[in-house]
Amino acid sequence: MMAREWDYWTRNKLNILKDYLPAFCQASRSSSEIIYLDLMAGEPENMGKGMDEHFDGSPRLAMQTNPGFTKLVFCERNPKKSSDLRSDLASRFQNDQRWRVVEGDCNTKIDQILSSLAHISWAPTFAFVDQQAAEVTWETLTKVAHFRTNKKNIKTELWVLMSPAMIIKGVSGTNAESFANQVDLLYGDNSWRLVLAARQRNAISPEDFRVEMVNLFRWNLQNTLGYAITARIPMRMTNNIALYDMVFATDHPVGQKIMTELYRSAADREPMMKREAMVRTINSRTERNSQNTLFEVTPDQLAVTKFPNWEPNECWDPSQKVWW
Ligand SMILES: C[S@@+](CC[C@H](N)C(=O)[O-])C[C@H]1O[C@@H](n2cnc3c(N)ncnc32)[C@H](O)[C@@H]1O
Repeated sequence: MMAREWDYWTRNKLNILKDYLPAFCQASRSSSEIIYLDLMAGEPENMGKGMDEHFDGSPRLAMQTNPGFTKLVFCERNPKKSSDLRSDLASRFQNDQRWRVVEGDCNTKIDQILSSLAHISWAPTFAFVDQQAAEVTWETLTKVAHFRTNKKNIKTELWVLMSPAMIIKGVSGTNAESFANQVDLLYGDNSWRLVLAARQRNAISPEDFRVEMVNLFRWNLQNTLGYAITARIPMRMTNNIALYDMVFATDHPVGQKIMTELYRSAADREPMMKREAMVRTINSRTERNSQNTLFEVTPDQLAVTKFPNWEPNECWDPSQKVWW
């Protein structure tokens, strides 16, 4: 049920990707090679929960991008999913030599993936890291970021899902310590534990915890990896709690300009998608309870809080906070 209520964000996230990729390729059109890396590629298509609707996953979207990428690598740890993905792409994109699916953990496969592309490491490169909680490591992100070698020192563009909500769930669960070690690997050190400690002694609110965890990640991208620009868009559940953020890192002002527009449009789309999701939940509950379905709720009957228009904001030095 919960999944159904925030599922609209999966579509909204993929809408952003679908609109950004052609813009990235268009901006890179003077280059003879353009690379797309999908470190957690998933399945060929997503099914909207409670909807009779299937929508393309990130690999199909990347393959369909026009103007397009010249090399695409899709990494997926789950053997069944990676094999389904390989079959799906092979049947849809026959005689297309641009792509390959790598089965395995992206953190162990990354060296192999990047060395297979080393001869074109000058190419504009975009990497999508669609994790659920803390599956990617900072070491992998560092390798991906610094993969590109070019005179202007422009790094791989990164688009990473960050979910402080899943992190707090993980560190409160049965395998708390091993999960926390995984989060150390995600951040590259254990400084995020200061944010957690602040939350645990109530020095910061749950919303501040989410904001500060994403801010710390952005701060590290800018100050450790050296990205010029980062941006975040929170993706909220129907009760307005941010479930995860999409964090964007680029060295290129054009990338920032395009993503800013797309984040704004995604935020504008959110209230209607949220309303539709709530309606599906209410109506299916009514149906399950065998109540009179003549009284179906429609999206325009629901009020949804409209958040202020999305604006880019700067990240800040977390160590300056009193709770640090
Ligand atoms: C959220 S799904 C990806 C969805 C996909 N990007 C889409 O748009 O449809 C995350 C996927 O990452 C895979 N995964 C998790 N950890 C991984 C890892 N360390 N390396 C590679 N794949 C991983 C999971 O099996 C899952 O299929």
